[in-house]
Amino acid sequence: MKYKTYHVVTFGCQMNERDSETLAGFMEELGYSYEPDKIVAQVVILNTCSVRENADKKFFGVLGQLKHSHEENREKLVIVCGCMMQQQHIIDTLKQKYPWVDLVFGTHNIGDFPKLFKNVSEMHERIIDVWENSDTIAEGLPAKRMYDFKAYVNIMQGCNNFCAYCIVPYTRGRERSRKPAEILKEINCLAQSGCKEITLLGQNVNSYKGEEGGIENFAQLLREIDKIDGIERIRFMTSHPKDLSDELIDCFKDLKHLCHCFHLPVQSGSNAVLKAMNRHYDREQYLGRVAKLKEVCPDIAITTDIIVGFPGETEEDFKDTLDLVKQVRYDSAFTFLYSIREGTPAASWTNQIPEEIKHERFNRLIEVIHEIQEEEMKQFQDKIIPVLIEGTSKTDKSMLTGRTESLKTVDLPGDTSLVGKIVPVKIVKAQTFSLYGELVND
Ligand code: 5AD
Ligand code: SF4
Repeated sequence: MKYKTYHVVTFGCQMNERDSETLAGFMEELGYSYEPDKIVAQVVILNTCSVRENADKKFFGVLGQLKHSHEENREKLVIVCGCMMQQQHIIDTLKQKYPWVDLVFGTHNIGDFPKLFKNVSEMHERIIDVWENSDTIAEGLPAKRMYDFKAYVNIMQGCNNFCAYCIVPYTRGRERSRKPAEILKEINCLAQSGCKEITLLGQNVNSYKGEEGGIENFAQLLREIDKIDGIERIRFMTSHPKDLSDELIDCFKDLKHLCHCFHLPVQSGSNAVLKAMNRHYDREQYLGRVAKLKEVCPDIAITTDIIVGFPGETEEDFKDTLDLVKQVRYDSAFTFLYSIREGTPAASWTNQIPEEIKHERFNRLIEVIHEIQEEEMKQFQDKIIPVLIEGTSKTDKSMLTGRTESLKTVDLPGDTSLVGKIVPVKIVKAQTFSLYGELVND
């Protein structure tokens, strides 16, 4: 085993990816270096997600894989953290079935990682330290960023919405916003070190609360970020439709660097289901917001999240979802089978939908989504569009891969010296899920 190496496994969303950058930053500060193989690494950190059952299952699968190497090497440390750890039933399972895990902590005390790590390395005794909530966000934590040219920037933590299916308000706690000055300082720093693209993260960025008399809300924060020299692309996620203000929509008209794409989770197209989900908007209001976005910014690419088979969803409700999808014509959509999350209101309802019906609806939904997506993608054929080159293609190492403003993947031939640059690309082939292009020399 190599000495002083670490590996972080990240499950789940961009928030977790960002937290893993902080954990990697701490490990580097402690003098550890990254090891790509989790079996070989001396310290393994599993940063967990709990949003659907699949994520739980994947975590226990990886944990099982680590047992043997942990037994073989007494010096190996296995650390688990993140959303799953905020749930008592998970802690109970870990205590009973995985007593060899060395350190367990939650989403609220990530800032204490160096102290916890020191204690567990010195004592060689298991530590479980999970806080129920917190009202602040730790500032000034290190980060080992995954890329130089693009970065996630957290602007807030937690969620106050309590959608009936969702575990996040229980695992991430109440909504807290970072101070505007801290956010701007971080982005200025990133820009100075060559970062071109920023994705602002929060469970519901539309309810960002700044400072009275200063930058008060999310739209105002965007306007300030737009002025930062060097930042060429600004993205954000996620937005709750109920809080999508006209002031934010106007940003798409006024700001130079705001990408013309919007992730606006609808979850369902049925008013009865939206009400049961506790979403606080109906389909008419949602469609109204979409119409306004398209009016202000005609080329905006709208994407969404949809849950299929929420308790009580009828065939009629589901048809309303299909109908809404056809009206909005999403650029792409993340589709999920409803998954029971222990501790959420909908988990205990008796009107659960049988698995086969959920799957059947899911397949019908993705068919409609893909049809629309294929048509939308064809519009790129022969167009010249700016692409941020991110690296070499996963499927063909001789090709480069990059992203358009609306996050579509483009593969093209070219030299790796272009990585991190935004270049004009002519699209020569447009398929449902990807685009192929050629560099345009200007
Ligand atoms: N079952 C299925 N999908 C869910 N999501 C959140 N909770 C659940 C659940 N219990 C989906 C929502 C959300 C996305 C991040 O995950 O669509 O927007
Ligand atoms: Fe979950 Fe709803 Fe909060 Fe999104 S807004 S994190 S779906 S509770």
